Amino acid sequence: MSAAPELAGTPVLILREGSTRERGRGAQHANIMAARLVAEAVKSALGPKGMDKMLVDSLGDATVTSDGHTILKEMDIQHPAAKMMVEVAKTTDDEVGDGTTTAVVIAGELLGQAEDLVEKNVHPTVIIDGYRKAADKALETLEAIGIPVKPEDKGFLKKVAMTAMASKLVAESRDYLSDIAASSILHVAQKVEGEYKVDLDDIMVEKKPGESLTDTKLIEGIVLDKEVVHPGMPKRVEKAKVALLDCALEVEKTEFDAKLNIESPEQMEAFLKQEENMLKDMVKKIAEKEAKVLICQKGIDDMVQHFLARKGILTVRRAKKSDMEKLAKATGGKVVTSLDDFAKEDLGYAELVEERKIGDDKMTFIEGCKNPRSVAILVRGGTERIVDEAERSIHDALCVVRDVVQEPKIVAGGGAPEVEVARVLKEYADTLLGREALAVQEFAEALEAVPTILSENAGLDPIDIISELRARHEKGEVWAGVDVHGGKVNDMKKLEVLEPLAVKKQIIKSATEAASMILKIDDVIASSKMKAPPTPPGGPPGGYGGMPPGMPPQY
Ligand SMILES: Nc1ncnc2c1ncn2[C@@H]1O[C@H](COP(=O)(O)OP(=O)(O)OP(=O)(O)O)[C@@H](O)[C@H]1O
Ligand SMILES: [Mg+2]
Repeated sequence: MSAAPELAGTPVLILREGSTRERGRGAQHANIMAARLVAEAVKSALGPKGMDKMLVDSLGDATVTSDGHTILKEMDIQHPAAKMMVEVAKTTDDEVGDGTTTAVVIAGELLGQAEDLVEKNVHPTVIIDGYRKAADKALETLEAIGIPVKPEDKGFLKKVAMTAMASKLVAESRDYLSDIAASSILHVAQKVEGEYKVDLDDIMVEKKPGESLTDTKLIEGIVLDKEVVHPGMPKRVEKAKVALLDCALEVEKTEFDAKLNIESPEQMEAFLKQEENMLKDMVKKIAEKEAKVLICQKGIDDMVQHFLARKGILTVRRAKKSDMEKLAKATGGKVVTSLDDFAKEDLGYAELVEERKIGDDKMTFIEGCKNPRSVAILVRGGTERIVDEAERSIHDALCVVRDVVQEPKIVAGGGAPEVEVARVLKEYADTLLGREALAVQEFAEALEAVPTILSENAGLDPIDIISELRARHEKGEVWAGVDVHGGKVNDMKKLEVLEPLAVKKQIIKSATEAASMILKIDDVIASSKMKAPPTPPGGPPGGYGGMPPGMPPQY
């Protein structure tokens, strides 16, 4: 290691003792290996025939999922290059909500192909330039083959949601759930200057284990996982004026210790009376504004609850902050932080507020809100883990429907677009000169990993499938892809396996960026805190438990 070059015989140390440094090919190799291991880890979860993973955290809690982003998030990855792959999944999830596994797999393949080129002495910057050109061409091709659809066409939206859920645990009930996803997005979509905009925050997803997935419901309004605080209060209020408060309805405790001398029972009584009056006054302030429902973010004193019940005000306490914001938006009310500032105009409105029993618990439903653009999905399912995974899958479904509504273009799935782009890229490579052409070719190969893995996961022979796919795309069958259920190559558009164009484009962008970033690193300097675990004798130099060169990836 050359962290201490010799200057006229005196070694000059620039790094703190214990720091490790790795440069050149060694560093590159270790980073690429680590990143590829991440891709390798999620590969088996790709596609409708992909497997699920069970991730157990340090407390023993298990998560069962096939969602790429969730798998990587829960994996607690240490290696810095591997962490960049986790970010690929995160960016893809943030931007388009689906395609996280594919993005990570393609990034891993791009790195694998790049390593072959580096072996052949192609400089990483040449590869990066080639990859960038290939990515631009890929995006252009995807745009060209994308099929325009009507954003209001619920049929298409439903199919896109069905494809997103096909690879999830909830696939059995996807017909039912995709209808809910499409309806809720259409409900909250807003047309701005000819284009639809969707704010996913307008859709609340609440989950409650019990019953089955097909008992999941779309509610036109808001659901709070809270019960009415006092048995004496009404459980159902129609045409309700709703007060939203973010202040405790209690007698405030003094900040310093105060001593109060009470010498007679009369004084005691007067003191208590005073306190009671203060609390009564609070209720008066709410009741005189004609509020029929009160949702409070903080606690409520027992006595206040009692007075509120006497006034017939349906009250819920300790609502989540995020729910309060949604309530304000939905009911058109304002969250008030002090009762003294509370005015009639701050009240929201809902047609119906009702406490209902869901499973063993009680929940409060606020329906028919002033703003019709707020909906809630109440997710039900056999066990807690199923409900959790259903929530994640519904998130994917909502995201893909939103993607299509906002950018109304779709492609068919099953690896068809990847093979088509690969075909175009290979032609494109022939027009380029020099080593960049090699990089574009490798980019094309990397994309073909998608149909390869889809077939592998479905127990099909990837070599046969890929050669048939290539041949059929040559003949102009743009939508020829892997029909994993039929076990053969098929027209994916006819099979109605449809996906948003936005997802495919984002996958290319995220994967190329991450691969380029990792390729560009040729020097890893780690402070002593990030000390590398001891490497076996004869193993690779440094690198956070990096893989010995030439070893097959393992995890
Ligand atoms: N019926 C089908 N036949 C063939 N391929 C399908 C079918 N349904 C979905 N696919 C393909 O499966 C892939 C998506 O798989 P999956 O949902 O597991 O991963 P992802 O979308 O990349 O990541 P994630 O959903 O975890 O964010 C897409 O390439 C899609 O075209
Ligand atoms: Mg998916």
